[in-house]
Amino acid sequence: MTSAQTAAERIAELRSEIDAHNYRYYVLDEPSVPDAEYDRLFNELKALEAEHPELVSPDSPTQRVGGAALAAFGQVRHEVPMLSLGNAFEEQDLIDFDRRAREGLDLPSGDLFGDGAELEYSCEPKLDGLAVSLLYENGKLVRGATRGDGSTGEDISANVRTVRNIPLKLHGDGWPSVLEVRGEIYMPKAGFETLNARQLEAGNKPFANPRNAAAGSLRQLDSKITASRPLELCAYGVGRSDGDLPDTHVGILEALRGWGLPISRELKLAKGVKECRDYFHAIGEKRDALPYEIDGVVFKVNSTAQQRELGFRAREPRWAIAHKFPAREEVTELLDVEFQVGRTGAITPVARLQPAQVAGVTVSNATLHNMDEVARLGVMIGDTVIVRRAGDVIPQILGVIPERRPENARAVHVPAHCPVCGSAVERTQLIKRSKGRESVTEGSIYRCVGRLACQAQLKQAIIHFVSRRAMDIDGLGDKIVEQLVDAGLVKSPADIYCLSFEQVLALEGFAEVSSRNLLKAIDASRTPSLARFVFALGIPDVGEGTAKLLARALGSLDRISRALPDVLVYLPDIGLEVAHEIHSFFDDEHNQSVIAQLRARGVQLQEEGDVHPDFAACATLGELLDRLNIPFIAATGAQRLASRFGSLGDIIDADWLDLRQVERLNEKAARALRDYFDDPANAARARAIEAQLKEFGMHWESERKAAEGLPLAGQTWVLTGTLESMSRDDAKARLEALGAKVSGSVSAKTSVVVAGPGAGSKLTKANELGLEVDDEASFLKRLASLES
Ligand code: IVH
Repeated sequence: MTSAQTAAERIAELRSEIDAHNYRYYVLDEPSVPDAEYDRLFNELKALEAEHPELVSPDSPTQRVGGAALAAFGQVRHEVPMLSLGNAFEEQDLIDFDRRAREGLDLPSGDLFGDGAELEYSCEPKLDGLAVSLLYENGKLVRGATRGDGSTGEDISANVRTVRNIPLKLHGDGWPSVLEVRGEIYMPKAGFETLNARQLEAGNKPFANPRNAAAGSLRQLDSKITASRPLELCAYGVGRSDGDLPDTHVGILEALRGWGLPISRELKLAKGVKECRDYFHAIGEKRDALPYEIDGVVFKVNSTAQQRELGFRAREPRWAIAHKFPAREEVTELLDVEFQVGRTGAITPVARLQPAQVAGVTVSNATLHNMDEVARLGVMIGDTVIVRRAGDVIPQILGVIPERRPENARAVHVPAHCPVCGSAVERTQLIKRSKGRESVTEGSIYRCVGRLACQAQLKQAIIHFVSRRAMDIDGLGDKIVEQLVDAGLVKSPADIYCLSFEQVLALEGFAEVSSRNLLKAIDASRTPSLARFVFALGIPDVGEGTAKLLARALGSLDRISRALPDVLVYLPDIGLEVAHEIHSFFDDEHNQSVIAQLRARGVQLQEEGDVHPDFAACATLGELLDRLNIPFIAATGAQRLASRFGSLGDIIDADWLDLRQVERLNEKAARALRDYFDDPANAARARAIEAQLKEFGMHWESERKAAEGLPLAGQTWVLTGTLESMSRDDAKARLEALGAKVSGSVSAKTSVVVAGPGAGSKLTKANELGLEVDDEASFLKRLASLES
């Protein structure tokens, strides 16, 4: 309240503000402020009204519960009003509540914790969902209703029937012929995550939290939609009933459970306020592990006789209270948005906030992820935003309160230049391939193009390079890396390997022994495995798993660095985008020279070897054709073409008539195929992929099958030197037609080496290994006899 404002004015202001929030919260299911903020306004109003009872009016939000019912549903009058609960935020509030209850029951008062005569309380988590009333007549569910304003709610019978854990008929017997069960319908955390993923996929707005999702799902006029949502009930009490019920709250809940209604698994009895406090802390500890959201616990005097004696005060029972956890959501001001540069140059917007207490911790920064998120939130600098902090996760901005946007609010813009190095900032591109064409769309990530010339990227890259799972250089911590980079001693990972003793000694915090130890650690890192080295390079999107996969499948840095994106995608879990990242990383001249320098400075890769046999055997010609995404050629068509032709070259060269021979390949598809390969760029690309796959030792499955039964099946031949009667390619083709594999290198597994004039090291090796060697004449003889 400002000094010029009277209590009456402030009360009027608070009421209209609360009414507006109520409308958004209860009617529109679009909360405009977090609960904590709402509670504050509400409590301020309550306090002012207590100070000025003459200003209390029947239309004050403190005098009624919630908002109006939606007109589209039928209305339901609650014969027994659906009440709300008073809140305890501090332990003292709980102690006061307990004292008032004991006083109301004329029980002797005790010490601070009420040890005089302890009241028995039932304890349950306070679920964050929507209160419902379920009416059972003669054991059958006849009506479901929302709380609405406490006396009139909405008829949501069709919707509650879709909630799977609500019994349509009561189990067992002994239930009163009229029984109105009350409880909370909520959405478990896991279901909420799945639903939101689905919403995003379908281009719909995600729900802010499980409570909203539950409310939005129950308020559907089309109950089919409700049925598709993962809702659950937890029963916590009884409204109307015309029969005898147990005389304790816990007894009633257990009876409900016996009749098939779900109740809380966390239900416990506590004696006195001390045990209540223990329960509160125990559930607080468990909170993150529970499969549903809770915002506190509810304590209820267990004896129903005592409940009756205590009765109600305004809208709240005197026998129950909600002990709330510190709020996880708060409102604060967005002071600025700064951009941080990550290891791969990605520029991430970070929110600088007016420091606010959220769940007991001061929050002054929050992540905004990327510019798509900024756009989704519609956030501007100067806005009042809702921040959430839960568990150990980085605080997040959930939304904006548009009503509070100041006139001088500023839009968030990505800087045109890197805030650290001044290089240009570019938007990432997403490559998609469909119908034979690659299309490029704008991604949500912006990157500084400065690479290692950008101090921020350089520092992060070095920190990553030396980290434990990468090159594992012990003792080269983040602070030291920063010093090395700032001093200009390290401009690329390769520079680490030429640091001198004097240079290290001159760094802050280094003495003789520590300097020597660091140099020893650097030296010890010179023999990494191929996988570690690939991971250490810090290729965007290549984590440890992908690095291991690349190393295992391709076996050498040379193959990894030459692999075409279209070949890389044969590896499981490597998509076109990652494949392009890998390819362009190795295509970059600067990266090439850093790798060459690393090798020159003594880094020797271990565990290099051959292409993995599984990878060699994983390619099929059909799949390659399919991946080319030629219009009208689907997977089955690709398969048929593959088995008909057996090699890509033959398909590329096939004429119209050949193509029309392929079983069930229609004219449209044949024409599309012809058109595709008539484009020399397409044909060249396809040939390059095939050539590289073959060079890497891969073979088409269809060829392997075809080779079975052929005279040279299972044999590997090597051609070396020049042949006079035919070209090497022809010789290769004739051998392959006989089922042989033709390889470029001699090994113990080689079957025959054909050596023409000029044969060099391959012939020497063949002789050393004692392999069969043919000269041109004997080769021709052999071919003639096999081909006949
Ligand atoms: S008892 C007269 N028990 O909290 C007592 N309420 O602020 C009526 N809630 O409208 C409520 N879990 O939606 C009770 N175990 C629980 C609860 C619970 C969640 C909600 C309920 C109610 C609101 C009261």
